[in-house]
Amino acid sequence: MSDRPILSVRDARVGFNTARGTVRAVDGVSFDLGAGRTLGIVGESGSGKSVLVRSLIGLVSTTTGVEVEGQVLFEGGDIRKLAPAEFRGLLGRDIGIVFQDPMTSLNPVMKIGRQIGEGLRLNRGFDRSAADRRSVELLAEVGIPEPERRAGQYPHEMSGGMRQRVAIAIAIACAPKLLIADEPTTALDVTVQRQILDLLQREQRQRGMSMILITHDLGVAASRADDIMVMYAGRAVETAPTREIFRTPRMPYTEALLRSLPRLSDRTHTRLTAIPGRPPDLARRTGGCAFAPRCSYRTERCDGEQPALIREDGHGFACFHPLAMRT
Ligand SMILES: Nc1ncnc2c1ncn2[C@@H]1O[C@H](COP(=O)(O)OP(=O)(O)OP(=O)(O)O)[C@@H](O)[C@H]1O
Ligand code: SF4
Ligand SMILES: [Mg+2]
Repeated sequence: MSDRPILSVRDARVGFNTARGTVRAVDGVSFDLGAGRTLGIVGESGSGKSVLVRSLIGLVSTTTGVEVEGQVLFEGGDIRKLAPAEFRGLLGRDIGIVFQDPMTSLNPVMKIGRQIGEGLRLNRGFDRSAADRRSVELLAEVGIPEPERRAGQYPHEMSGGMRQRVAIAIAIACAPKLLIADEPTTALDVTVQRQILDLLQREQRQRGMSMILITHDLGVAASRADDIMVMYAGRAVETAPTREIFRTPRMPYTEALLRSLPRLSDRTHTRLTAIPGRPPDLARRTGGCAFAPRCSYRTERCDGEQPALIREDGHGFACFHPLAMRT
């Protein structure tokens, strides 16, 4: 493991120009991801998690009325400066992606064995029969029974959980250094959810991959991520090692999120406490802290000024009145 981060993002911004004005979906996010580490990105729906990671890997269209800014360094190199062919190669080889709905990444009319082998042929120089053999091995590795038979099937012949395993096999086939998983288990039932998260974690550890795991479930992030970045209204509002964020959250929004987590010690019928109020309209930004309308610690300053993310001993938080640290 080297000290240099595998991924460094500086001041990422994404704005969608709409009839209602510019929707600032990502508004100045910076972070580093260490080699072999898992970063959990959490936040309510609409906080910009997906747009952020998609923009990093060129999946946010920049054609009509979309502004994408910021610097993205992968192993120290600026990926926005790569020629299109080099960039495609990097995505195929070094960065794997798993989405919430596997059907968005699977080709419905191609046998799954071929789909897994395609990347190996394009990016790793495998011939067809070697790619076919490796596809079957990968299907076995991601826990699909009868992998030879399954390799000859189409996506619609499989359950949702099995399809997500196939999507993971495709994502890891070329042995990427970074795996991005955007809500990989949200569409699945609880038991399958755990199996898929276990599978991702096992692959990540065995291969020493770095991973970005997006989830709106703080419990999932708690058990799977080394570090956590909390997003609110397109900004990173708190970032720290997982244990620290749970022990000593500094930002009131994180505290509110933690309060909405059911505790293991609670009885089964405890209600989730939702955070009162709604996230702001991203096309109508005020000059103050975006969380102010929902924050019980708010002061006059919070309405007039936007808090920057400051770091204290590796713990970043964006708040004028951070919560006290327990000693
Ligand atoms: N093409 C687009 N045009 C305009 N606004 C968009 C577009 N794509 C996304 N947005 C807006 O950007 C914001 C961030 O969306 P994003 O999908 O990143 O949220 P998210 O945190 O991933 O939420 P979820 O947990 O629901 O997946 C949302 O307000 C969304 O409506
Ligand atoms: S800056 Fe003010 S409004 Fe924003 S989270 Fe901190 S206390 Fe609350
Ligand atoms: Mg999303």
